Amino acid sequence: MARVIAIANQKGGVGKTATVANLGAALAERGKDVVLIDLDPQAALTAGFGLDPYKITRTTYTLLTRDHIPFAGTLRPVADRIHVCPASVDLAAAEIQLANYPDRAYRLRDALERNRMPFDFILIDTPPSVGVLTVNALSAADELIVPVQCQYLPMRGVRALLETVWLVHERMNPKLDLLGVLPTMYRRASKHSREVVQELREVFADRVFDLTIVEDDAVAEAPVAKKSVLAYATGSEAAAGYRRLAEVICNGR
Ligand SMILES: Nc1ncnc2c1ncn2[C@@H]1O[C@H](COP(=O)(O)OP(=O)(O)O)[C@@H](O)[C@H]1O
Ligand SMILES: [Mg+2]
Repeated sequence: MARVIAIANQKGGVGKTATVANLGAALAERGKDVVLIDLDPQAALTAGFGLDPYKITRTTYTLLTRDHIPFAGTLRPVADRIHVCPASVDLAAAEIQLANYPDRAYRLRDALERNRMPFDFILIDTPPSVGVLTVNALSAADELIVPVQCQYLPMRGVRALLETVWLVHERMNPKLDLLGVLPTMYRRASKHSREVVQELREVFADRVFDLTIVEDDAVAEAPVAKKSVLAYATGSEAAAGYRRLAEVICNGR
C-alpha cells in the first residue's frame, strides 16, 4: 500500500509545489515508485514536468468530476520511477461543479481506492486555499507535510491550516497524521530565518522536521528546465535538503 502524503498550506508561495516535485524525485532516487498528484488549478507541478495543462485531457479534473475514471489512466511517466497525475486549467471549475455531489470531499480518496497499481508513495500538491480541492487531498491522505517559508512569521496561517486539519481528522479522516512542518527557503545568513525556525519549534516542537530546505535559485530554475532540482542541480544544497527529507520519511527521524 502506498503512503499517501498531502502537502498543504493555504498560503501561496511557501514551497508546496517545489516540495512535491523534489521530495518525489528524492524518493524515486531511493528506488521508490512515486506518483505526484496535482490538485492545484494553477498546474505549476504539471507544467514543471513538461506537461501542458491546456492540452491534457485525463487529469485530476476528470478524476474528481467523472465517475469510475481509472486512476492509472490519468498517470503520465515524467522521469524514472515518477508518474504525474496532472492538473488541467478546468480544475478551477471543479469547486463549483462538485458543490452538488454528496461525496464531493471524498472523490480523490475513492479514486485512489480503486487504484490497483503498486506505488510506494503518492504525494498530493494542493492550491493555496482550503476549499474542496484541499479537503479532497486531506481526506485521501494518511499524512500531511506543511511547508512554511522562513521569511516572515507565518504562525497565524499555519494555525488556521492545522485547525482545518483537525476538523478533517475528526469528521472525515481519522487516520490523517501531521508528518511534519517543513521550514523552506531558509537563509543561513539571516537572523530572521533562524527566528522563524525557532518559533516553529516552540509551537510545533518535534513536529518540525529537523532539517531545512535552503533558499536556492536552482529550485526556481529547475521547473523551467522541466526537471527536479535533484536532476537540475544535483550537488546543490537544496537537493541535499530534499534528499535528507526523503531519508527521514523512509527511515523515521
Ligand atoms: N528552496 C527554494 N529556494 C528558492 N526558490 C524556491 C524554493 N522553493 C520554492 N521556490 C520558488 O518560490 C516560488 C514559490 O514556490 P512554490 O513551490 O511554487 O510554492 P507554492 O506551491 O506553495 O505556491 C516558486 O517560484 C519556486 O520556484
Ligand atoms: Mg503550488
